[in-house]
Amino acid sequence: MDSTNRLSIFGDWNGYFIYSKNELINLETMNSSEELINRREKSQLGGGQNRIDRQHQQGKLTARERVLLLLDDNSFQEMGMFIEHRSTSFGLDKTKFPGDGVVTGYGKIHGRLVYVFSQDFTVLGGSLSETHAEKICKIMDLAMKNGAPVIGLNDSGGARIQEGVVSLAGYADIFFRNTRASGVIPQISVIMGPCAGGAVYSPALTDFVFMVEDTSYMFVTGPNVVKTVTHEEVTSEDLGGAKAHAEKSGVTHFTSANDVQCLKDVRDLMTFMPQNYGELAPTTKFEFTASKTEAIKNILPANSNLPYDIRSVIDCIIDDNSFREVQEGFAKNIVIGFARLEGRTIGIVANQPAAMAGVLDIDSSRKGARFVRFCDCFNIPLLVVEDVPGFLPGTDQEWRGIISHGAKLLYAFSEATVPRVTVITRKAYGGAFDVMNSKNIGADLNFAWPTAEIAVMGAKGAAEIIFKKEISEAADSEAKWKEKETEYADMFANPYRAAERGFVDDVILPEETRAKLIAAFHMLENKAETLPQKKHGNIPL
Ligand code: HXC
Repeated sequence: MDSTNRLSIFGDWNGYFIYSKNELINLETMNSSEELINRREKSQLGGGQNRIDRQHQQGKLTARERVLLLLDDNSFQEMGMFIEHRSTSFGLDKTKFPGDGVVTGYGKIHGRLVYVFSQDFTVLGGSLSETHAEKICKIMDLAMKNGAPVIGLNDSGGARIQEGVVSLAGYADIFFRNTRASGVIPQISVIMGPCAGGAVYSPALTDFVFMVEDTSYMFVTGPNVVKTVTHEEVTSEDLGGAKAHAEKSGVTHFTSANDVQCLKDVRDLMTFMPQNYGELAPTTKFEFTASKTEAIKNILPANSNLPYDIRSVIDCIIDDNSFREVQEGFAKNIVIGFARLEGRTIGIVANQPAAMAGVLDIDSSRKGARFVRFCDCFNIPLLVVEDVPGFLPGTDQEWRGIISHGAKLLYAFSEATVPRVTVITRKAYGGAFDVMNSKNIGADLNFAWPTAEIAVMGAKGAAEIIFKKEISEAADSEAKWKEKETEYADMFANPYRAAERGFVDDVILPEETRAKLIAAFHMLENKAETLPQKKHGNIPL
């Protein structure tokens, strides 16, 4: 029997493939393997061909197509494809879809186990029912017990409205598990359609969020509610599209042009991660272009107040093509991302002199802190590349709490027990010197280039304060100021005072950096450090 005939037996209503008691009667007349094949095929169809076509017309893949693209070929093992909702309200008892709007199971990415759930928008808009939530929870529980990542592909109209509070409780069951799984296994959320209301909090609790450009959005309240409450007129895209969350809110870590690219990007990111908190990330083959050792010598401008792109420095240090920048469009004054050194994963946190001179502010502190904590959860050594003129001054920053937000980064580094190495390329001023993985907050090694300036503040400002009287009383106060500035710069605009006191372990040439870092991270390979016994710390949130 072909699937067209089978569809005609059970009928197609308003685009939905009806799964009703009538159908069960028909199934009784079949032999058992036919029944199973029939049920499987029906489950594959989700909400029916019309809705699959609509999904495709919108430039989106179906839930199953996504899972198959995400996982290694022939590795997907589906669970719960026959699960049905139990609701009888608003006619739902007559509209059942095997699988209930979410495809769940496990499979492999690059040969390593992952658990996956993929919401099926063709079934009641991918809305989350009690049973839909139960399927997701089952996957999460297995992932925790077996120590493997969970990847959630989100495409849903939110709580299944007909089910009311039961659906809300289902969300809470997922949030609870997201939180309990945090730091145990990597959790990845991929937003491939709507994700609105409280539903956004599951992705927010996970480690990394991907969004597909133009077809996905996330917001707590949509444009209609926004208009009613604040009288603002805004489109879904502007309010919560991929661009908004990549550049304004920082909620998404990665954006991709379409579903296919996005799933490729997820597969790629997984290669940088361990399976769980007790394991190390896999090592890979690597290449390093020898000419980069020369190129690194010429990156810093002669004038130390001019910008340069810190990513050029990173590129000259790490394995070829191994940098995966995270939150690229948000808080550009700090650069974070994964990379590899001789095939081993490291996490990089770097000030970016090309954006706001690399100053630390609220957003960059939050961005850096969360990344440091991810790396620390999952045994990923940290490399800090430092060129920071300090914290951003001003009422805006002070009144919005730069004190507590800046403290997040300080706390995150101080708490981290993974191998931690810093390279100071140029400025390391004031409190920001302390914060950016200094020796005194537990870094294992600090290196400085000969161009490093490690001081309480820039020479000009310092001279103005400490030689105020002499400058004002001088016949030529400008000349005096310049003279004192030079005096201060000679004293501190170099790495040697810090090296003399052991605040940096070595002064190294730029071209020596890669080799020094490889040796350093090898030396730190077996680092074992534990935090004082406690229930948990109290990071300034
Ligand atoms: C039940 C839903 C649904 C939902 C969509 N559908 N959302 N069914 N519960 N939450 C159904 C639609 O009725 C429709 O069925 C089918 O899915 C496709 O939806 P369309 O509206 O035709 O699709 P589209 O035009 O693409 O619009 C997508 C949408 C819209 C923007 C997501 O459906 C929408 O606004 N849905 C409601 C969103 C919402 O308010 N959800 C509750 C949020 S509160 P038919 O049969 O007509 O094809 C929430 C709280 C969570 O989620 C709290 C957790 C703590």
